[in-house]
Amino acid sequence: MTDLPFDGAITRFYEHDAPHEIRKAIADSHKHDILSDSYPYDRLLDNDAYAKDLEALQIELAKLQADVKATGKRIAILFEGRDAAGKGGTIKRFRENMNPRVARLVALPAPSDREKSEWYFQRYVEELPAGGEIVLFDRSWYNRAVVEHVFEFCTEAERERFFDQVPRFEEMLVDEGVLLVKIWLNVGQAEQLRRFLQREGDPLKQWKLSWIDVEGLKRWDAYSAAIRETFMRTHTGPAPWTVIRSDDKRRARLAAIRRVLSLVDYKGKKDKIVGDPDPRICGGPEIWT
Ligand code: ADP
Ligand code: MLT
Repeated sequence: MTDLPFDGAITRFYEHDAPHEIRKAIADSHKHDILSDSYPYDRLLDNDAYAKDLEALQIELAKLQADVKATGKRIAILFEGRDAAGKGGTIKRFRENMNPRVARLVALPAPSDREKSEWYFQRYVEELPAGGEIVLFDRSWYNRAVVEHVFEFCTEAERERFFDQVPRFEEMLVDEGVLLVKIWLNVGQAEQLRRFLQREGDPLKQWKLSWIDVEGLKRWDAYSAAIRETFMRTHTGPAPWTVIRSDDKRRARLAAIRRVLSLVDYKGKKDKIVGDPDPRICGGPEIWT
């Protein structure tokens, strides 16, 4: 373990350990905007179209913010996904033109010893929205279902207890009147590795890499199994998952904002602008691959 996991470790994995088809997809990436064969588009969304839609949607978010403040609504949005799926960038576009006190970011670090001795949900409960707040969780209690399992940071019994409690916990929040939105950003294996390589080579982005990312490269399949199980056990009526394919970050960001806006009524809402998220990249667990 080193504090500098980007010290060439990603490049070494790419050159020596990556599955052949992943290496080939990346080696050919100058020919393709999008590396995943099963992604429904060949090209990234055009930047002008993206900027125009993003601005219109951010105006809707500003109206949502005013409404949330005026009416005391409570909204919690969970952003989940593998490393480099685009959680941080999506959250940034949500909050770009919002009041940071209304649209609050919660990105908790690994639990302290004290927190480890508490009820698992406890430190998240403290961060739930008060009236008039939208809380955006960059990772959430779902750490226990996926990363903590893959890296054995929790025991099997702890994970089982989590799966037993989470539907009840979420149902209580929803009963309480909290709007709970669970977003899973789904990135392909080649695209994830390409993003890691970019981060490794960019001094402004290296901070995003961690030991977990480097080690996680070898554990793609273990992550896949943990994610599949998570959907099976936590995609519930009161608290369903929204899955968004994020190989194209621009399309993913627009779909995520549309999804949230489409779930809530607010004063001055323009349904035509909000529309529905693109069903080719946004749906339920059935679109996860
Ligand atoms: P991120 O992707 O959020 O930048 P990492 O990839 O480094 O962060 O870690 C993934 C997640 O695993 C984080 O939420 C982190 O808090 C969590 N994590 C790291 N180490 C531990 C640990 N020892 N026990 C529990 N969770 C951990
Ligand atoms: C993301 O890009 O999904 C996260 O915000 C950063 C990471 O964990 O790689």
